[in-house]
Amino acid sequence: MSLMKGIILHGGHGTRLRPLTHTGPKQLIPVANKPISRYVLDDLKNSGITDVTLVLGSTYPEKVKQYYGDGSNLNVKIKYQTQDAPRGIAHAIGLCEQQMGTSPFVVYLGDNLLKGGINRLVEEFQTSNQDAMVLLCKVKEPQQFGVAKFNEDGKLTQLVEKPKDPPSNYALTGIYFFKPIIFKMIKQLKPSWRGELEITDAIQKLLDDGYNLGHQIVEGWWKDTGTPEDILEANRLVLDEMKPKIEGKIEDDSSLQGRITIGKNTTVREKALIRGPTIIGENTTIEANVYIGPYTSIGNNDIIKQGEIENSIIMDHCTINIKDRITDSIIAPHSKITSSKNTPHGKKFIIGERTYIEL
Ligand code: TTP
Repeated sequence: MSLMKGIILHGGHGTRLRPLTHTGPKQLIPVANKPISRYVLDDLKNSGITDVTLVLGSTYPEKVKQYYGDGSNLNVKIKYQTQDAPRGIAHAIGLCEQQMGTSPFVVYLGDNLLKGGINRLVEEFQTSNQDAMVLLCKVKEPQQFGVAKFNEDGKLTQLVEKPKDPPSNYALTGIYFFKPIIFKMIKQLKPSWRGELEITDAIQKLLDDGYNLGHQIVEGWWKDTGTPEDILEANRLVLDEMKPKIEGKIEDDSSLQGRITIGKNTTVREKALIRGPTIIGENTTIEANVYIGPYTSIGNNDIIKQGEIENSIIMDHCTINIKDRITDSIIAPHSKITSSKNTPHGKKFIIGERTYIEL
């Protein structure tokens, strides 16, 4: 049997994540200081999949190449395919036909996180005679997803895209297992009402033609990170499982409570209070009297001079120097938030399109 290969999608518009996606693809947004799609790649690697194709979209594809290169640093073989426009998940998969060859493969959306990983599922698929296998997750609002319909014997018989009247609570996650027969189905697809080649349609065709479709249910959590709220939730979920590790310099009289990771060359000054779960990267300074609250990720080369931060993501090279508390926020690299020295305090903003501010 051929070894399993992998496809990680890095395309899409990412409109719901603007302005963060004005300067990079959403799959590279850091959660607990690591790009989301890096969790995906690590999952593939831990499952024995080392031959991986990344499908790039038109949002800064060079940033993805710059981060992953040819994969040799990570002991995987990475190839690239370019999708000229977001013509659908099935279209993106179709671009990889040659690279997958005769191998079975996993498709993983680069903005999906799965707690348990896919190790067990890879084994399950490889030892089964299934032509495709989907991973389902029980959700509260199935109306927003592709939803599975089962017959009385519990067999998956139909996939319904965003149904008004959902046949079950089981949604399709962004993790799919295929044999190369899926390429034949993708070639027969026509664009849907939203102008995309839908992977649910391709899988439905497999079912209609009598192919063997298996399914598995997510154990633990699955998170699709399409919106800022999703990113913050993913950050909380990952931080909840983080192993603490202190490598930086913690000055006496500062207080670290709970599970905290602090990177090399980072300094936490006296009287700072940090409550975990929290991660702070490398070369960052947390000045005296600063408060960093639970579920916060602070990146590399940041200076937190003054202020309080809770349930937030502060990316690299930021400066925070305020008399307020930042909460539920995502701050992109090279941002500066400071208090005004003038009175009365005017609020001054230099911000990108689609910025969201709540004062
Ligand atoms: P979506 O989140 O559905 O699409 P999007 O990125 O366009 O988001 P938004 O609605 O905010 O504009 O995409 C799901 C995943 O699939 C995501 O990782 C991007 C990827 N994708 C592609 O790689 N190519 C495509 O053609 C599409 C539609 C999605």
